[in-house]
Amino acid sequence: MRILVTGGAGFIGSNLVHYLLETHADAHVVTLDALTYAGNLANLDGLPDPSRHTFVKGDICSDEDVARAFEGGIDVVFHLAAESHVDRSILDGRAFVMTNVVGTQVLVDHLRRQGQGRFVHVSTDEVYGSLGPTGVFVETTPLDPTSPYSASKTASDLLVLAAVKTHGLDAVVTRCSNNYGPMQFPEKLIPLMICNAMNDEPLPVYGDGKQVRDWIHVRDHCSALDAVRLRGATGEVYNIGGVGGERENIEIVTAILTALDKPESLIRYVEDRPAHDRRYAICSDKTIALGWQGEYDLERGLGETVRWYRDNQAWWEAIKSGAYLQYYEQQYGNRLR
Ligand code: NAD
Ligand code: DAU
Repeated sequence: MRILVTGGAGFIGSNLVHYLLETHADAHVVTLDALTYAGNLANLDGLPDPSRHTFVKGDICSDEDVARAFEGGIDVVFHLAAESHVDRSILDGRAFVMTNVVGTQVLVDHLRRQGQGRFVHVSTDEVYGSLGPTGVFVETTPLDPTSPYSASKTASDLLVLAAVKTHGLDAVVTRCSNNYGPMQFPEKLIPLMICNAMNDEPLPVYGDGKQVRDWIHVRDHCSALDAVRLRGATGEVYNIGGVGGERENIEIVTAILTALDKPESLIRYVEDRPAHDRRYAICSDKTIALGWQGEYDLERGLGETVRWYRDNQAWWEAIKSGAYLQYYEQQYGNRLR
């Protein structure tokens, strides 16, 4: 089985590459990644069997780069490459439209031309917009994105679903809630708060800190993606959420401070994010019906994640210093495709 993972040097993509090589002895994984600021080849260190992995440095918007990744044929595409950070999209949305919308269409076109293969489109619960104090997102919840990021992901979902109808593409769409775990770029809430707390720097909490997210450990997201790959029905959407993962942001922040034995005086309430979604909560029943079950409750997962950042300080210090950007040239030079 030849599997293409786009965005495989990012947070979820790299966890997925590790997961696939660990769980499928017959899998050869090709990673296609442009190594933007969010891509880090150090995330692909320590793969269980590096001979079953090929790294292709390339942009999903480029036909030539995508063709290089498809060389030798591809049975499954897990499409994760994206601009993923809401705050960056509010500052400038253009890269989000290019990668998330145009890049998705380029990949769809390549798989279509190949004539066979399954496309697993990794999307987000943010396409549904915001919930009030009650209720959950189901797959039929109306699409109502509120940021350039979520609007671009919504557009990409619709392009993939249209290709199923128009061209008979074998595609499934997943919509997951907030992930956390090892190798998450320290611009996102949990790793940012851990790294700042470890450095005794202020912890910026947006607005009143009472926004709710439905946290899922990245490993549970990876197992869900594989279940959808294996048993999901073409043209269907599958929600993926945490195991009892709903928490207010401020609860997450104080739990991190407690785990690191740091004072709450580090918390700084700052100006709110524009159009900040108040609450996300996911109904995963349709994915559970495929035989998937999440394993990490938040207390266990958050504890392990805090320990990972404490034990891997060099990983995030290289990001803060910018040294990780040279990793590709230093470690790989021109040896890879
Ligand atoms: P990330 O920002 O950590 O990683 C994105 C990766 O994509 C990086 O390695 C980057 O180099 C690569 N990339 C960006 N533009 C590219 C391009 N034009 N061509 C090739 N590669 C490119 O993102 P993440 O948090 O791992 O998210 C991965 C996917 O999962 C995204 O599609 C995101 O929308 C989705 N998602 C994320 C979450 C979450 O909580 N992080 C939740 C649900 C869904
Ligand atoms: O729900 C899935 C989405 O989760 C993914 O599609 C996105 O790619 C991913 O970035 C994430 O989006 P969020 O905006 O929810 O994640 P973020 O970590 O940026 O913020 C989580 C919450 O914490 C949100 O309510 C904003 C708040 N926050 C965030 C940062 C970075 C703060 O209060 N302070 C901060 O410094």
